[in-house]
Formats: sequence, C-alpha cells, structure tokens
Amino acid sequence: MKKKHSVFITRVVPGAIDLLERYCDIEVNTEDRVLSKEELIERVKGKNAVLCLLTDSIDDDVFEAAGPQCKIFANYAVGYNNIDVVSATKRKIIITNTPGVLNDATADLAWALLFSVARRIVEADRFTRQGRFKGWAPELFLGLDITGRTLGIIGAGRIGTNFGKKAAGFSMKILYYDVKRNIEFEKECCAQYVEFDELLRYSDFISIHIPLLPETRHLIGLREFSLMKKTAVLINTSRGPIVDEKSLVKALRDKMIWGAGLDVYENEPDIEQGLKELDNVVILPHIASATTDTRTKMGIMAAENILAFFRGEIPPNIVNPEVFSNKK
Ligand code: DGY
Repeated sequence: MKKKHSVFITRVVPGAIDLLERYCDIEVNTEDRVLSKEELIERVKGKNAVLCLLTDSIDDDVFEAAGPQCKIFANYAVGYNNIDVVSATKRKIIITNTPGVLNDATADLAWALLFSVARRIVEADRFTRQGRFKGWAPELFLGLDITGRTLGIIGAGRIGTNFGKKAAGFSMKILYYDVKRNIEFEKECCAQYVEFDELLRYSDFISIHIPLLPETRHLIGLREFSLMKKTAVLINTSRGPIVDEKSLVKALRDKMIWGAGLDVYENEPDIEQGLKELDNVVILPHIASATTDTRTKMGIMAAENILAFFRGEIPPNIVNPEVFSNKK
C-alpha cells in the first residue's frame, strides 16, 4: 500500500532504512558510490524528504529539483558543510544533523591517530611485515612520549571536550582554544583557555575539533606551522579544508613539525600531492565515526528527524530553527 510520505536515501545507511520503510515509501541509491549532481537532481524529484550524506553536495539546484513539497534534508553526519543552509532556510527547508552519538567514536579515533603518529605505529608495522625486523635495537623507531605532555585542543565542543576528557589517563596538561570559553570543561578537566597562537606554541599534540566555516577554512597554514614546536603533532578528524594541505606537506617535509594524523582532506577523496610519500603522517579514509554501533545510531537519528517532521513536530536535531520564524 502506498504510504503518505516518500523519502529518498542517497546511499545505503545502517539503521535508517528499516526504520523509515515502516512508515514511508522509500527509495534508496543501492549502488556503493556517490551520485553525480545530475543523478541526485533526478532522484530527489517529488520526494517529501531526503536523507543525505556528507559526500552529497546539497545546494539550491537540489532544493529546486526536489520541489516545494520537500521540506526536510536530514544529513547523516554531524558536520553539514556539504549543505547550503542559507539557501535551505530561505526556502523554509529544514536541515538536520547527527550530533552526540559520534562523540566517542570520533574522539577515540583522534587518540588512535595521536598514538600512531607519536609511536610510529604504522611505519613500524610496515617495517615488520616487510621482514626487516632483525631483533630489538636501542634506537629502533624512537617516538615521542605522550604521558605528561601538553595537549592543545582547538574547539571545545562536544567532540573536543570528549577527546580532552580521555587525556586524564595520561596525566596531560590541557590547553584549549575556541571562540568562546567552556567553563565546564575547564573545571572538569583542568583545561586552560589560551589564545590561539599560544596553543600552537606550547602544545605537544594539537587536535582540531571545529566545524568547517568560511572563517575556519585554512585556519592552519604556514604561519601556524612556524609557531608550533618542531616536535609537535597535528591531528585532524574534523574537516580537511581547515588545514591548508599544501602548507602541511611542506611543514611535514621540512620537519617544521614532528608529524600529523589525518582522517580528513581538503579535497576528498583526493589527497594532496606528496602527502602519501611521507613517513611522518598517518592517513585514514575519513573513518572517525566508523564503528557499527555509531553509524547505526547516526542512521536512526537521521531517520527519526524525518519521522518527527512527518508527525508535525520540530525535528530534534534541526540546525536551522530560523525556518520556523515568521520573518521573511
Ligand atoms: C561527521 O559526522 O561529520 C563525520 O565527519 C562523519 O561521521
């Protein structure tokens, strides 16, 4: 029987499909690839909702193609820089995201990267597999100490503070920078608020946990690398364009810093030339939230936002509540 609402899901998403098909007519892109803009435009036509991914570029053309009956796009990610929210808001289209459920998974992966870079885990694994391990040696794969060192957190939101709390086991001093202070985090973790440049100068490990916005694009470039310690490690699990990747390659190649651990890139899935050739960087394919439980929770959350909207409620994870204001 035809149901009242139709939803297009841009890729197979754990958790979301089972839930949505109980209440709606769903259409899913079952191919294991990102749809082209033309395909996306074709497939959203006439739907009442779209569940989209961070790899889908959702702009005014997509909203226009979907039609006036389509009033919600639920993003399967906490970051929503892939969506033109200004244009959505003008059209009174609701945008939702998936905050909270991926805090642990993302912070855990940031730690995994930190350890991998500091203790040269990936390099050492490669060496061992290649049959080059000829026995214990005093200077084999010397790395950096972590315990007792200074952790610099850029962005004290949900993920950044979660990452910071996990430092307790390593007796680390925590510095943080954000556009506004987080007093609770300061109290709970003895975190010290510092100016941005001060964080860069004094941290041994710097981890980025901020959204991609026009003002955060290329926040870290050559000037910032030149302020960091030569033994500093940079971790990025947020969004690639926050780091100027060309400058990062130069900083790593010229040993301006010790190393970097990356889960995200400026032009995903492309990786800046030269990065793959460097031993002092660990590169992952944007998997920070990739645990079965977390990805399922994200799917359920995205679906629940759509279902709440269909029930006439304000979706719990709306990012543009202004759509409900009466002003034009
Ligand atoms: C997000 O949610 O924004 C992550 O980058 C992917 O889970």
